[in-house]
Amino acid sequence: MTIFAIESSCDETSAAVVTRTDGKLVVRSNVVASQIATHALYGGVVPEIASRAHCEAITGVAREAFRLAGAEPSEIDAVAVTFAPGLIGSLLVGVSFAKALASTLGAPLIPVNHIEGHVAAAYLEHEELAPPYLALVVSGGHTSLYHVKDYITFEEIGSSRDDACGEAFDKVGRVLGLPYPGGAAMDKLAAEYFWKAAPGEKNPIVFPSPAVGDTSFDFSFSGLKTAVINLIQNERQRRKTDELEHGLRLQIAGAFTAAVTDGIGKKLKAALKETGAGTLVMAGGVAANSHLRTSVAEICRRRKVSFAVPSLALCGDNAAMIAAAGIHMFDAGIVADSSLNASASDESAEITLARLKEKARIRNRKAT
Ligand code: KG4
Ligand code: ZN
Repeated sequence: MTIFAIESSCDETSAAVVTRTDGKLVVRSNVVASQIATHALYGGVVPEIASRAHCEAITGVAREAFRLAGAEPSEIDAVAVTFAPGLIGSLLVGVSFAKALASTLGAPLIPVNHIEGHVAAAYLEHEELAPPYLALVVSGGHTSLYHVKDYITFEEIGSSRDDACGEAFDKVGRVLGLPYPGGAAMDKLAAEYFWKAAPGEKNPIVFPSPAVGDTSFDFSFSGLKTAVINLIQNERQRRKTDELEHGLRLQIAGAFTAAVTDGIGKKLKAALKETGAGTLVMAGGVAANSHLRTSVAEICRRRKVSFAVPSLALCGDNAAMIAAAGIHMFDAGIVADSSLNASASDESAEITLARLKEKARIRNRKAT
């Protein structure tokens, strides 16, 4: 089957064509138009600007996805779209476009939860991957652990009680004067710190852990973020200048990264132990972080847990991951009609999907 997918939940307009042949998913095109340069001027995503930019980009991005894939409209068996969670105006552009396309092609409309899409990115490069497994989603909006029971059933077993991990990266990056979004630049600064540090050298800066100090699998990034920002402001006051020397900036990035990787690692180890999971998937924009990739890979290696993480291009927002999730929703008979609405929050997304899953269950039962 061939699926056409749209992603527009935040500041990337993306369209993809993915074909499944003999059980293997082939990404025929995955076009991503990023708005980062526009939002960088404001130090973060401006929702109104994002919606307008999606409106301007979406037709061209979709055309390009067809062209690069060499796909004919008649080949498309289904149209998948991210309907939640995210910025409501941005989501609505993708959902409206997908509805129009699905209706024009006479193809079913498949609603996809963005977070489940991030996890499904792993299916595109790990043919052997199949549920059940544990999934760690680290993105600009989420930091959560899921027990993925089957292709369409995600049970959240832990999450951040405040900021998401990517949000903390971006806020700390901004205070350090790094370009938006700060995650990738922080990754490089920390790499320079670890590379320059002498073997066994201790970082004089230590930040609080984002692992919540109880038996839950929850995180909290706001204390860590505030500690970093306070330290930076105190150092600026003490030095009577906004310019911090490079060595101190490296130590800050190194200490922040160590707190993030250790804190996530701590909860991950506990979750792997409690669930007995034999496979871990890590996904989302922050899954591109080189330090997190290394430390999580090591945790899995020591426990003989197989580890699947998308390549860097598939960690950030893209439509191929929505196609991968959409194929499994399609297999389960989960389709939406033209009344599908976008949902900004996880809660309303869950309600919509639960309703559509129940409809699919009744339809499937009647059919057998
Ligand atoms: O998944 P994503 O593309 O969008 C959301 O669904 O939120 O994640 C974006 C986040 C941003 O916070 C960005 O700074 C972060 O991913 N990010 C990184 C890296 N690359 C992107 N964070 C840390 N290290 C990176 N290399
Ligand atoms: Zn995302």
